[in-house]
Amino acid sequence: MQSELEFFNKIVTKLIENEKTEPVVSPLPTDTVIADLDLSFNDEGLAEDEWQNIVENAIMHTPRTASKLFFNQLFGGRQPKAVIGDLLAVVLNNSMYTYKVAGPQAGIEKTIIQETCKLVGYPDGDGTMPPGGSMSNFMALLMARDAKDNKAKYDGVTQRMTLYTSNTSHYSTPKNAAFAGIGRNNIRYINNNYLGQMDPTHLAECIEQDLKDGCIPFYVNATAGTTVLGAFDDVNAIADVCEKYNVWLHIDGAYCGAVIFSKKYRHLVAGAERSDSFSFNAHKMLGTPLSSSIFISKHKEQLAESFSNQAEYLYQTGAEDYDLGKTSLQCGRRNDALKLWTLWKSVGNNGLEHIVDQQFYLADIAREYINNHPDYTLYSFGDSISVCFNYKGIDAKELCTALYEEATTLVGYGKFRDTEFVRLVTINATNGKDEIIKFFKTLEEGAAEMNTG
Ligand SMILES: Cc1ncc(COP(=O)(O)O)c(C=O)c1O
Repeated sequence: MQSELEFFNKIVTKLIENEKTEPVVSPLPTDTVIADLDLSFNDEGLAEDEWQNIVENAIMHTPRTASKLFFNQLFGGRQPKAVIGDLLAVVLNNSMYTYKVAGPQAGIEKTIIQETCKLVGYPDGDGTMPPGGSMSNFMALLMARDAKDNKAKYDGVTQRMTLYTSNTSHYSTPKNAAFAGIGRNNIRYINNNYLGQMDPTHLAECIEQDLKDGCIPFYVNATAGTTVLGAFDDVNAIADVCEKYNVWLHIDGAYCGAVIFSKKYRHLVAGAERSDSFSFNAHKMLGTPLSSSIFISKHKEQLAESFSNQAEYLYQTGAEDYDLGKTSLQCGRRNDALKLWTLWKSVGNNGLEHIVDQQFYLADIAREYINNHPDYTLYSFGDSISVCFNYKGIDAKELCTALYEEATTLVGYGKFRDTEFVRLVTINATNGKDEIIKFFKTLEEGAAEMNTG
């Protein structure tokens, strides 16, 4: 392994150095990428030198999500303490299902779950770390289904069960409704107000209508940070409706649920303690490597009821609460906890708070820039780290594609109601004001090129 570690050090050092001068790599065409980078296999394998060259080439041509000019997705940047944690998790290669195999790593995950329960306000809660926010939402949906009708687990869904989510919520809800046997057609999409928040009055009306029609309303998905606008649904107003009709309330905080770490911004999920389940992605706002998702519920027994299975060949030490396979979707499960723990342990609660607050600060800088420059039109609102705008009326899709093809910056576009816009995501907390200004200057130069080119 020694020579591989030396190679690893060499290539990572080169990548990180190169990111500074070449923050965006030129995209390779899909029809030649396999041949250009020699990605296919042969029978004999390769000599060491040749193997190193080909691996290095593939790494150096890969899009750079940690660079200062990556704003395309709801993740970005690199928190070094978290990176080290994830690298160590790979070297350890535990599986998180039993204490026998995971040992202290199970304790690490439990610590994260317990601390998150405290922050959200579930004193007797429990949880797990699913492989991503979509799967966190899936777990919530399954628990809500079983809580409403425990027979569904054994006999399948035999009644018309209905669920509710806003028009701008994440696409995992329809997928999960299909996976759970509920059916996509039993989703009611709730209207949004102009800020992109779910309308609780419309929610109540839809539930009433379904009750009249003999359906069984069982689940509401509220969002803390909608995927495009970064809007926060009003949890208290939605909880009022859920409590009235005895419907499970899940808060999908994959994108921005980490505001629970910030004294200044946790009010955006005020009322979270009234929800039944909550999730957030540490690999989004907290900047850990993908993936590190936390799912918690106030209903500890229901978590076990929905996910536990007996397996003598697996659970052999009676470690009970530390046999984490009994509350997860999977059997073998990657260690997604260590990277968050190494970061959290290093910077403490205050450090995580700073990471969150920095993103809102950067969004304020971006909005201020837009408001001070008449060539821009702003479409999003305060208290959001998605800054949505158009520049000089240029079609957002064309502008983002040109910037991608010219390898100047990576940024995406989105839509709310009928308006399409550029979506700048200020999620990389290692950025400062200068990087945000640089982004706008880069975009302006790219737009000028489009006009002349
Ligand atoms: C609001 C919301 N929920 C869920 C997800 C899905 O998370 P993941 O990509 O970890 O599955 C996303 C992803 O962007 C999201 O924005």
